[in-house]
Amino acid sequence: MKLITLPKYFKEYHWSNIAAMIKNNRQHPGVCTDEFRDRLVVISGATSGIGYLTARKFASQGARLLCINRNEKKSADLKAELEKEFGVSCKYIIADLSVLADVRRAAEELQRLDSPIDVLIHNAGVYLTRRELTAEGFDKVFVVQHLASFIINILLSEKLKSQERARIILVNSEGHRFAAWGLRLDDLNWEKRRYSGLKSYGSAKLAQLLSMLLFDEHFRSTGVNINAMHPGAVRSETGQENGAIYRWVKRHFYDKILRPTEISSESIYYLAVSNDLEGVSGKFFNLTTEEEPAPPALDREAAYEVWAKSVEMAKVPDILIKS
Ligand SMILES: NC(=O)c1ccc[n+]([C@@H]2O[C@H](COP(=O)([O-])OP(=O)(O)OC[C@H]3O[C@@H](n4cnc5c(N)ncnc54)[C@H](OP(=O)(O)O)[C@@H]3O)[C@@H](O)[C@H]2O)c1
Repeated sequence: MKLITLPKYFKEYHWSNIAAMIKNNRQHPGVCTDEFRDRLVVISGATSGIGYLTARKFASQGARLLCINRNEKKSADLKAELEKEFGVSCKYIIADLSVLADVRRAAEELQRLDSPIDVLIHNAGVYLTRRELTAEGFDKVFVVQHLASFIINILLSEKLKSQERARIILVNSEGHRFAAWGLRLDDLNWEKRRYSGLKSYGSAKLAQLLSMLLFDEHFRSTGVNINAMHPGAVRSETGQENGAIYRWVKRHFYDKILRPTEISSESIYYLAVSNDLEGVSGKFFNLTTEEEPAPPALDREAAYEVWAKSVEMAKVPDILIKS
């Protein structure tokens, strides 16, 4: 008789975790009213949606902004807006985070900064309904959503550790749950399976969560904290690269049930600035509520595998070996 094999992680799933996620999705975020005057905040993808409102939130609290964006015109407009409205400095680096050479160049510019980086927010992201490969031949979603933040964290690790303190925020997603049975490291480019936008997105977010486990270990006792968060299901420009039908459905149906983007920017500000988060690292938050991620995101063996694969793809030094 043929025995049915249960998928990996099947037994680790509990309804209570799903119920907690549903409950947390409805929460209001914690609010931090502390100022962040003259502190340096680096944020990727500040030209629209969550990143834009987050940049505004930090600027309104007196922070200096350094944005990593791909669009020159939108970046110049953002700089003019924040500098005029809040009287803070807003600089930017132009980089397409799906291009590894651009990611490295941006990281090298950050390495050369004289000032400490108080907060580093990996926010830029993309959701694609059709498979797209980068010039290097990698799944574009995987590169923008995971590899870019991985490279920047690796190349900045010495600088961040040399500072008194720093907080890294990964704008992740409950969407990591779409990779319910874990990552297929043998098929990151979706050559052996039918491409699924949700699963590709989920895989990339899962890879980022797994890498967080090891970054957290690497940074332990150095004053550098790294946490991931789900910013809520909120209105933004996400999915604009997709076809007309997708965009129409999003605009006329999906956008109507999404929550206001301010809950994301308030949450990110809270996680980045509030004293409540002092010494907290390696955690996943749904808005500002700590939550247990899906079982594959807690698999340390898989974390080492993703790490090794990411080092190989990105051609960056393996900081885990050195530590
Ligand atoms: N909205 C939600 O409900 C939701 C839920 C869970 C997680 N998230 C996550 O939240 C983050 C922000 O997304 P959003 O919803 O605010 O989407 P969005 O409005 O589309 O903003 C995405 C930002 O990333 C930038 N970006 C995209 N591809 C890039 C690339 N190759 N190089 C450099 N920058 C790039 C975009 O630049 P342009 O302005 O030039 O397009 C934009 O600034 C993402 O990581 C997303 O996965 C969002």
